[in-house]
Amino acid sequence: MAQGMSAPDRNLALEICRVTEAAALAGARWLGRGDKEAADQAAVDAMRLMMGTVAMDGIVVIGEGEKDEAPMLYRGERIGTGEPPEVDVAVDPIDGTTLTAKGQPGALAVVAVAERGTMFDPGPCFYMEKLAVGEEAADVVDLDAPVKENLKRIAKAKNSSIEGLTVVILDRPRHEEIAKEVRDAGARIKFIPDGDVASAIAAAREGTGDDLYIGIGGTPEGVIAACALKCLGGVLLGRLWPRNEEERDQAVQQGYDLDKILTIDDLVSSDNVFFAATGVTDGDLVKGVHFRRGKANTQSIVMRSLSGTVRYIDALHLGAKVRHY
Ligand code: FBP
Repeated sequence: MAQGMSAPDRNLALEICRVTEAAALAGARWLGRGDKEAADQAAVDAMRLMMGTVAMDGIVVIGEGEKDEAPMLYRGERIGTGEPPEVDVAVDPIDGTTLTAKGQPGALAVVAVAERGTMFDPGPCFYMEKLAVGEEAADVVDLDAPVKENLKRIAKAKNSSIEGLTVVILDRPRHEEIAKEVRDAGARIKFIPDGDVASAIAAAREGTGDDLYIGIGGTPEGVIAACALKCLGGVLLGRLWPRNEEERDQAVQQGYDLDKILTIDDLVSSDNVFFAATGVTDGDLVKGVHFRRGKANTQSIVMRSLSGTVRYIDALHLGAKVRHY
């Protein structure tokens, strides 16, 4: 750690949980209303309001975009009260804006925090290849190995058959080949319409029934998932996946190595990572926001890598606060 840098010794995850709760409460008001921008904006506004109360000197590394196009929570924005610790912050006010707009499962409000200068900056790289598994199979997977080979190794590590494995894949035309390879190998597939942060976590978390998350998804979401898996102990492997020649050239000019397999440590090098996610819509990982006569219930998963603590927090939010959001 650089000289003069103060180590975050509080469990900031508990504080950022209030932030994700606020974003989820605000975004969930837009459930099924067919307006993903409005859902996202509501979550951004609530998240930013609460973020101002967190005792930290934060810089947004993973945010809503550039300053001009996203006046709030843009990359480079200073957030928190401004007092130590100095930290990098990754935010996704809603991962799964379309899921929220359609009232479908799996949308989350997410914040991750780590020591300053330790989070990967995606730069111009919108997408990355990703592969995530839990601790049991952490040492056997290889991003360059054929899908069938990875499945064979995961099955062996988990004392299962390939047929017993469930692979989670974003439902996109670009994944047709991967899906074919999984089917040919004999494993089961769970296609998700959106929201791969929750899916990467579910693949790494015991008892979810998911064994592997694989495919091409957002790079910011990859960094956020890496923060979560640093706390949980699974593995996430990635590689930047430029959408076109222009993006490739830009990335190379800016010094990104497009062949490099990125590990969790490349995506977040700090060993002191804080992570909180609150369900916006009901999902396998956490329940979504439920509103009842002036009250609302939220469920969050809250983790810290240094201590290895994983908490589930069920919260009841009463009248005035619920109305506020
Ligand atoms: P949004 O919430 O911003 O809509 O992103 C959802 C998401 O599904 C991510 O979870 C995923 O990484 C990415 O979009 C995939 O991108 P695309 O929809 O372009 O395939």
